[in-house]
Amino acid sequence: MIQKSTIDRIMEATDIVEVIGEFVQLKKRGANYVGLSPFANERTPSFTVSPAKGIFKDFSTGKGGSAVTFLMELEKFSYPEALKWLAKKYGIEVEETVEAPENREEELRRESLLIVSAFAAKFFHETLLETEEGRSIGLSYFKERGFSTEIIKKFELGYSPDQWEAFTETAINMGYQPQFLEESGLSVRRENGSMYDRYRGRVMFPIHSSTGRIIAFGGRTLKKDKNVPKYVNSPESEIYHKSDVLYGFYFAKKSIREQDNCYLVEGYADVLSVFQAGIENVVASSGTSLTTEQIKLIGRQTKNITILYDGDSAGIKAAIRGLSLLYKERFNVKIVSFPDGHDPDSYVRNQGSAGFKYYIENKAKSLVEFYLTTVDKGDLIDPVKKIKVADDLAEILSNNLEPEFRKDYIKQVAENLKIGEAGFLNAVNKLVLAKHNKAFEQNRPVLPNPDFESDNSDIEEHRDEIISTDLLYSDQSQEKEIVRLLLHYGSRMIDWDGIANTYIGPFIIAELSDVTFDHPVCKQITEIYRREVENGVLPDEAYFIHHKDKAIVDLTINMLASKYSLSENWYEMHRITVNDEQVNMKATILGAIFHLKKHKVGKMLEDLRTQLQKADTEADQEILLNQYMRMKKVEKSISDFLGSVIIK
Ligand code: UTP
Ligand code: MN
Repeated sequence: MIQKSTIDRIMEATDIVEVIGEFVQLKKRGANYVGLSPFANERTPSFTVSPAKGIFKDFSTGKGGSAVTFLMELEKFSYPEALKWLAKKYGIEVEETVEAPENREEELRRESLLIVSAFAAKFFHETLLETEEGRSIGLSYFKERGFSTEIIKKFELGYSPDQWEAFTETAINMGYQPQFLEESGLSVRRENGSMYDRYRGRVMFPIHSSTGRIIAFGGRTLKKDKNVPKYVNSPESEIYHKSDVLYGFYFAKKSIREQDNCYLVEGYADVLSVFQAGIENVVASSGTSLTTEQIKLIGRQTKNITILYDGDSAGIKAAIRGLSLLYKERFNVKIVSFPDGHDPDSYVRNQGSAGFKYYIENKAKSLVEFYLTTVDKGDLIDPVKKIKVADDLAEILSNNLEPEFRKDYIKQVAENLKIGEAGFLNAVNKLVLAKHNKAFEQNRPVLPNPDFESDNSDIEEHRDEIISTDLLYSDQSQEKEIVRLLLHYGSRMIDWDGIANTYIGPFIIAELSDVTFDHPVCKQITEIYRREVENGVLPDEAYFIHHKDKAIVDLTINMLASKYSLSENWYEMHRITVNDEQVNMKATILGAIFHLKKHKVGKMLEDLRTQLQKADTEADQEILLNQYMRMKKVEKSISDFLGSVIIK
C-alpha cells in the first residue's frame, strides 16, 4: 500500500490540466478546459476539466473524476499504478507500507512482467554498448545505419548475444522467476523444462507502453539467410497487446500534440531515422495495418495524420486499405510516398534532415491526389482508360470515406479528371448504396411486429426533458441534493438569521440527524461527513474526489459537475433554469433539508396508510390512526415552513 502521506503529496503536486493534457488536446474556456472525449467518438467537445476543483467530467460517457480516476479509466491502471505514474511525473518518491495480500495477485504479476522486461532491456542495452560482441556486431550495425549514440540511448536499443542461454541464465542467476521470463516471451521453455533465449544474435528494439514502460521487444536478425525470420517479436502477454501499441508513441506523444499532426511509418528503423532527423511526432504501425485502438491512441493527441509509405505499389495498396478506419474516426489524412523504392528511413539518410522535411511537408497528398500519382499520365488522356481510373477512384472513395469527407474528394476527382461532378457523385453513391444493401441483407434484423412499431421520434424529440424530469423527481433526488450542497457549500459560514460561527455542512448534518438516507452512496457520504465533523474535520470536495471508493468518487463528481460548476452543457442538456441559489443561501439550504424531510414524512404516511388498510383490530387501527394524524401535522408544519422560507 502506498502511504497516505505520499498520496497527499502526489495529490498536491498533480496539475489535472497538465496530466489530462498529455492525452487530450485541451482548450481553455472560461475557468475550465474543454476537449474531445477520449472515451467516445465525438465531434463537439463535451469533455471538461476544472483545474480549480481538480476534476474532469466527460459529458458524453458520464465518466468523471480526479487525475487518478482519469488514468485508471484511460490507461486501465490500477489505483496504485495511477498514483505511481503521477509520482514519477512529479518526481515524488513513493513510500509503501507492506502490501495487503488480497487480490493484488494480478497487479503483482503485471508488475513482475514489467520488471523482467525492464531488466531485459537493460541487459540488451548494456550488451550492445559494453561487450565486445555487442559493440562489434550490434553497435557497428546501428552506426552503419546512421543511428547516433543519443538515439540509441533514448530508445534503449540493444543486442542479444548469439548464444542459447546468455540472457536466461543471467536473469535466473539474478533471481528473476522463470515463470515471468517465459510469460514475457523473453525465454522459451524446452520440452524437458529447461529454458533458452528467444532472441539470439539480434539487434533489439524495446517497445514502450504509452506511459514509457517497456512491455515488449522486436529483435532484428543481422543475417542475410532467407530462412531466418527478419524480426522476432514478443508474443502477446498480460502487459503487451500488440494491437493497442504503436512503436515510438511514448517518445512522440508530446510532439504530436504540439505539432498537431502525427507521422505514421511502417518500421522501427523508420521511426528512429525520422526522429533523429528532428521530426519527433512519428510512430510506426510495425508492419501491420492500423487497428482501431492504435487510431484512438493517436486521436487523443491530434486528428491529423500523415502516412509516410514506401513508394512501391504494395505499400500504396496497403496504405489505401488502412484508410477507412481513419476516416471513420474523422481524421484528416495526408499521404506521402517516396520515390524509387525509398522508405522514410532510406530517404532521410539519402537527403538529409532538411531535404526530408521539405519533402514530407510539400509532397503530402490527399487520398485522391495520392492515387493519381500511381496512374499513368497517358491513362488520363485516353477516354476509355480514364473511365477505368474514375471507376477505381469511385470504388476507393465508396470504401473509405464517410459522407462528410466524400463531397470534397468527389470535387477533387472531377477537377483532376475533368469529368462532371454530378455524374461522378452519382457513381460513388450507387456503390455506397450497393454496399449498404449488401450489408443489410447479411445482417437483416428481425423486424418487430408492425402493430407495435413505436414511433421513436417522439421520444427522441423529448429526450432532454425526459432526462431532466427523471433527474428532478427521481426518488432519491432530494438526498442527492443534500450531498450536492454539502460538497459545494459545506465549508461556508452560515450568514443568515444571526447564526454565527457555524458552517453549513455541520448544520445540514445536525438538522438531518433524524433522517435515514435510502440512497446507499448518499448515506455513505453523509455518514462519513458526520464522522469527520465529530472528529473536528470539515471534509472538502477533494476529500471525496480522492476517496478510494469509486462509487463515492462518481457521485461526488456528478454532484460537483452539476448546475453551478463545470459546464454550461449541463444546463443545456437538462434544460434546467435555476435562480442563483447562492443569492438566497438560507432558502437553498433549508429548502433542501425540509424538502427531504417532507419526502421522508410522505413516505411514512404512505406506509401508515397501507398498514391501516391491513390492520385487523380496532385497537391497532386507533394507534395507527393516531400516528397518522401526528405525521400529518408534521407534514403540514414542514409545508408551512417551506412556504415561509421559500417562495415556491
Ligand atoms: P520492414 O521489413 O520494412 O523492416 O518491416 P524495417 O524495420 O524497415 O527494417 P530494415 O529497414 O530492413 O532494417 C516493417 C516493420 O514490419 C515489422 C517490423 O515492425 C518492421 O519494423 N516486421 C517486419 C515484423 O514484425 N516481422 C518481420 O519479419 C518483418
Ligand atoms: Mn526499412
